[in-house]
Amino acid sequence: MKILATGGAGFIGSHTCVALLEAGYDVVAVDNLYNSSEKAIKRIQEITGKQLRFYNADVCSRPQLREVFDSEPGVDAVIHFAGYKAVGESVQKPLEYYCNNLNSTMILCDVMREHGCKNIIFSSSATVYGLDMKSPITEEHPKGPCSNPYAWTKSMIEQILVDLHTGDPEWNVILLRYFNPIGAHPSGLIGEDPKGIPNNLLPYVAQVAIGKLPKLGVFGDDYDTPDGTGVRDYLHVMDLAYGHVAALKRFEGSHGVDIYNLGTGKGSSVLDVVHAFEKACGKKIPYEIKPRRAGDLPAYWCDPSKAERELGWKAKYDLYDMCRDSWNWQSKNPNGYDD
Ligand code: NAD
Ligand code: UD1
Repeated sequence: MKILATGGAGFIGSHTCVALLEAGYDVVAVDNLYNSSEKAIKRIQEITGKQLRFYNADVCSRPQLREVFDSEPGVDAVIHFAGYKAVGESVQKPLEYYCNNLNSTMILCDVMREHGCKNIIFSSSATVYGLDMKSPITEEHPKGPCSNPYAWTKSMIEQILVDLHTGDPEWNVILLRYFNPIGAHPSGLIGEDPKGIPNNLLPYVAQVAIGKLPKLGVFGDDYDTPDGTGVRDYLHVMDLAYGHVAALKRFEGSHGVDIYNLGTGKGSSVLDVVHAFEKACGKKIPYEIKPRRAGDLPAYWCDPSKAERELGWKAKYDLYDMCRDSWNWQSKNPNGYDD
């Protein structure tokens, strides 16, 4: 099968390309390198010893995308990772977020349809469940009102894809709701490479460990959680990558719209992460307690049993493994993909 991955040079896309090549798929990656480096593509090939075809193209550009599909006849399915993903930035730049995330999806689906490909996996997020989450969250949990434009783009794109299937049942749509992906490929050759000061916990901790940032701010220690800090369902990015490979098998039948949570089903606190990372890197991570971050929820984790039942997929790595691999990547590449 030939799989096209938009955003294939990004954090989750690059790890998924490794998993796809290892599983024997023919892989085409499309990325405009807005938040990634072409070096990731070379490293994917180095890890797997296999070739993939890379196109530096903007998914919002119909001509560019048509050129890709014309050059790659017979794409069986698309995994749509491309998009902007910074929550805080989306509040400052809503128009850019709605334009890029929605337009890329609509243009992509239109060009797919022109080329006879109607199988799509979309990178959605736990954020679509809104602010009133009851853990463990199953896929039946109602979607909620979102607290920022990024989250709304995920929720809206899910709806667009569901409507696409309603209008034309030949479309097969898989919505994968990721919880908190962290870690890196165990080789340390690919990983997360945020630009500027990281917003998310793991890259921040990793940059404290390497000495680029002085100390971590822990956003709140007065939540109603075992140690007072926020609890999330962290998931190794390679487990997430294998989740996509498992989901692709669904396209062998005709299933319409499927929704899966991808997470471990286990919650870990900010201090659990700090301690696991300290163990992995053999250093103390200095931190101080800061006020709660606006918009943060105290605690949530998923029920991943539907993915296990229907896809035969289950996360294998634990929090220590995630921190070990994140540290391996960070210590081998202190400046990410930059020289
Ligand atoms: P990322 O920024 O590393 O990857 C996204 C890639 O898309 C980047 O390489 C970027 O250059 C590319 N891109 C953006 N707009 C594009 C466009 N118009 N045309 C072509 N390429 C474009 O992010 P990621 O963490 O790998 O996330 C991948 C997907 O998963 C995103 O849709 C994100 O919203 C979603 N997601 C991520 C997380 C997370 O914690 N990382 C959680 C839930 C969902
Ligand atoms: C964030 C996004 C969410 C997105 C997800 C992708 C927000 C409000 N939410 O989720 O929409 O889908 O990333 O992974 O940005 N923390 C600290 N100090 C830090 C950074 C984080 O204590 O410097 C804490 C947070 O308060 C939270 C936990 O660490 O309890 C995880 O934070 P983060 O990695 O930003 O992920 P989420 O907030 O879960």
